[in-house]
Amino acid sequence: MKKKMVAGNWKMNTDFQEAEDLLYSIEDLLADKGPDTNVVICTPYPFLELATDRSSETELFAVGAQNVSSFEDGAYTGEVSARMLDSIGVSYCIIGHSERRKYFKEDNATLAQKVKMALKYDMAPIFCVGEVLEEREANRHFDVIRQQIEESLFDLDDGDFENVIIAYEPVWAIGTGKTATPEQAEEVHAFIRSLVREKYGDDMAEKLYILYGGSCNAKNAADLFAQLDVDGGLIGGASLKAEDFVSICVQASK
Ligand code: PGA
Repeated sequence: MKKKMVAGNWKMNTDFQEAEDLLYSIEDLLADKGPDTNVVICTPYPFLELATDRSSETELFAVGAQNVSSFEDGAYTGEVSARMLDSIGVSYCIIGHSERRKYFKEDNATLAQKVKMALKYDMAPIFCVGEVLEEREANRHFDVIRQQIEESLFDLDDGDFENVIIAYEPVWAIGTGKTATPEQAEEVHAFIRSLVREKYGDDMAEKLYILYGGSCNAKNAADLFAQLDVDGGLIGGASLKAEDFVSICVQASK
C-alpha cells in the first residue's frame, strides 16, 4: 500500500507570528512522532517562504500554496504566478477549492489553466472536486464530480496527469462539522479512481492519490483512512492546531 498523504489547508488564517509558532509546533511534533506520511502544509502566500525555509532545513514536510494565477507573467495586478511559487520552493498547489469556485467564481475552464500552470512549474496540483448539498440530495454528485474532473484534468497527457492529486471535498462537509461517512467517502473515491482508470489505465489509477477533505479531524481520520480508496486527507480547521494535525498525520501512517 502506498504511503498516505496529509495536507493542511490553513486558508486565510494566522498572522506572521502565529504562522511561525504553528510551523514550529508542527515541526517539533512531527520530529517527535515521526509518522511515515507525506505531509504537506499549505499556508497563505505571505508565509510560504517561511515554510519553505523550514521545510528545506528539516525535511519534515513539503509546502503548498492555496491558489495560483491562471496567467503566466505580466500585467495582472495582485496575482501570484506559478513561476514565483516554484522559485521559493513551493511544490504543491491547491486548485479548485470550493471556496474559490464559490466566492471567486472560478470555473472548470479557468481551473484547467491553473492546473497547467502549476504543472509547467513543477508543482503538484491538489485538485479539489465535490458537490454541494442540493446536488447530493438530487443524487447528482457523481455527474458533478465527473464533469469537474473531465473539464479540468482530462486533457492532460500521461506525463502531466501522473503528478496530479485529487481531493474529494463534499461542500456540505467543509467547515460544518458534518463529515461524510467513511462509506460515502469510499463510494466517491472509488468512482473517481474508476474514471481515471477508464481514461489513463490501471497503473495511473492505482498510483493516483485521492484525499478526503471536509471536517476531517483527529477523531474521525482513522476510520476515513481505513477505506480502500482514501489515500489521505486535506485538512482545514484541524490543521490550525498542531496537536490535532500531527495526530492525523500519525493516524495516516498506520
Ligand atoms: P475543513 O476544511 O477541514 O475545515 O472542513 C477542509 C478544506 O476546506 O480543505
